This record gives sequence, structure tokens and C-alpha cells, in this order.
Amino acid sequence: MFASTYQLDIQRENARRHLSFSYGVLRCLGPRLATLQVRFLTEEMAARRMQFEVLEEPVHPIIETESDMTSVSLKGSKVAIIGGTSGIGLAVAQAAVANGASVVVGSRNAERVDAAVLTLGVSATGQMLDLNDEASVAVFFEQVGPFDHLVYTAGDWQRRKTNINTNFDLADAQAGFDVRFWGAILAVKHAIPHIALNGSITLTGGVLAHRPQKGSALSTAIAGAAEHLMRGLAVDLAPVRVNLVAPGLVATDIWARLPDGAMQAMVDGQALPRPGLPAEVAEAYMYFMRGAYTTGQVAIVDGGRLFM
Ligand SMILES: NC(=O)c1ccc[n+]([C@@H]2O[C@H](COP(=O)([O-])OP(=O)(O)OC[C@H]3O[C@@H](n4cnc5c(N)ncnc54)[C@H](OP(=O)(O)O)[C@@H]3O)[C@@H](O)[C@H]2O)c1
Repeated sequence: MFASTYQLDIQRENARRHLSFSYGVLRCLGPRLATLQVRFLTEEMAARRMQFEVLEEPVHPIIETESDMTSVSLKGSKVAIIGGTSGIGLAVAQAAVANGASVVVGSRNAERVDAAVLTLGVSATGQMLDLNDEASVAVFFEQVGPFDHLVYTAGDWQRRKTNINTNFDLADAQAGFDVRFWGAILAVKHAIPHIALNGSITLTGGVLAHRPQKGSALSTAIAGAAEHLMRGLAVDLAPVRVNLVAPGLVATDIWARLPDGAMQAMVDGQALPRPGLPAEVAEAYMYFMRGAYTTGQVAIVDGGRLFM
């Protein structure tokens, strides 16, 4: 049997509390009785401590170092961010660098990759890849080499006929899954040989999976598919942890195209009636990278949209 230092501390603290409580009660009964009880409890604590000291070797390695991920820092870790050249992915890259990680950002557009690397500074490198071209995904991870965390925020915003009615176009709808779902699978496939066993994968879905809107059946299905993929991968890839962030409406470039006031109208009914900032959503990815005991989970970051 193995008891960690943490468990040992808890036992000692419980014994200390028990001791002071008993002493307080017994003082009312008389000093002599109290002295006896204190002696008994002190001996019991000593015996328990001895028990801990003769415990066998731990079954699991004791987690002590920063790189073992019990700490709140990503110092020294390497994070690959697919879709890290804009919006939420770029914000995750900025947060990771601020936490001491080195990052590799990837996407299709060379100018975007260069601009992101320039913004992120010396801890960042970038590389082009197209998730519709598996060979480029393989090359991306070969060049990344050994790394700790994969963040997947890639998404294309091509206008699709998302209403499922008589105009529904199957090929167009299928293409909607290419980057957000099949692309994630390809990324995971080629990340597996390189990712650290105590590392993590964080995918991206959307709050639509939990609260569909009119006309969003296809997007709802894509976001939901990503969530269930994440759950299956969390089982298959353990001890690598796999989680997913489901953003609500986040003020990234895509929404800048909307007419004035349109975005505000979409968030008016929320508990926090404003769009989220990419940096605010990035915090959820940071948690999933650092939280060494969390896997198979969804973080909904939606300003309270779900409940209103
Ligand atoms: N913003 C929101 O309100 C919101 C809400 C819910 C869910 N989400 C989801 O969150 C994710 C990120 O959203 P965002 O607003 O940050 O989007 P974004 O700013 O458009 O970023 C998307 C990223 O994906 C990359 N990308 C697109 N297609 C690619 C491909 N075929 N291969 C490689 N990279 C590709 C883009 O770069 P290149 O163009 O250079 O390839 C870009 O870096 C998306 O999956 C989105 O659906 C966003």
C-alpha cells in the first residue's frame, strides 16, 4: 500500500484536530483525565506515523517535478497549436508562452503563420499545414518532434447550407466535418508518436452542441461529434489526457464581418451579455494542459449562454 505525502499530511492534520477537540472536552472533565487522553492520542499518532514509515515502495511514481505537471506552470513544455495563427488558437499560444512554454503554431496561410510567430516572439515557431492534406499533417508533427500538449482550434468558416431541408446539399454538409472533425482525427493520428505520455490533447467544439439554435443542426452535429470523439480518445489514449473546450460566442475576426449591433444582439440574453474574448476562452485550454487529473471533460466557456 502506498500513501503519498499529501495523504500523510491529511492524516496528521485530522489527528491534530481530533487531539485539540478531545483536549478541550476533557478539560471540562478534569485535568488528570485530560492528561491521560492526550498521552493516548500522542501515542496513537506516533504509531500511525510509524505505519507510514514502513510502507512499501509506491506502485506509481511520486510526482515531484514541475515537468510532471502538478504545478501551475507550463515552463519547459512544448505546445503544438493547430489553428494557432488566429482567434482562439493565437490567444492560447500567447497564454502558453506567457506561462513559460514554447509553442509551434500551424495553419494553411504562410503570411498568417509568419505574423503569428512575430507576435508570439522567440518562444514560438510556425509551420504551414493543411488539414485537408494528410501528408502535410504528418510533416508538421515530424518537424515538431517530441512535444507535451496538442491544442486543436482549427476551423473553417465557409458558408454552408446548414438548414436540413429540401435544399440540403450532402457534399457541402460533409465538407463541414473536414477540418473540425476529420482534421482533428488526422492531427491526433500524427501526434501520437510524438506526444509525451503525461501530456494532453485539447480539442474544440462549441456551445451549440448543448444549446442548438434554429438553423444550426449541422453545426450542432459537428460540435457534438467533436465532443464524443474527445470522450472516446480519452479512453483510448490514456494516460495522455484528452479534453474539449466548447466556446460560446467569441469575438474573433469572423464576427467582425457582421453588421453593427448584430453580434451584441446574439449575446443580449446571456448572463454575461457580451461576446467572450479569445484570451478568456484560452484559460480553459490552459487548465486542461495543466490539470494533470482531468481527462474526458468538456469546458463550456459561454458567458452563461447555456442557462439563459
Ligand atoms: N469564435 C467563436 O465565436 C466560436 C464559437 C464556437 C466555436 N468556435 C470554434 O473555435 C475554433 C476557433 O475559432 P476562431 O474563431 O478562433 O477561428 P479563426 O480565428 O478563424 O481560426 C481558425 C484557425 O484555423 C486555421 N485553419 C482553418 N482551416 C484550416 C486548414 N484546412 N488547415 C489548417 N488550418 C486551418 C486558420 O488558419 P488559416 O486560415 O491560415 O488556415 C486559423 O488559424 C473553430 O473550430 C470554431 O468553430 C468558435
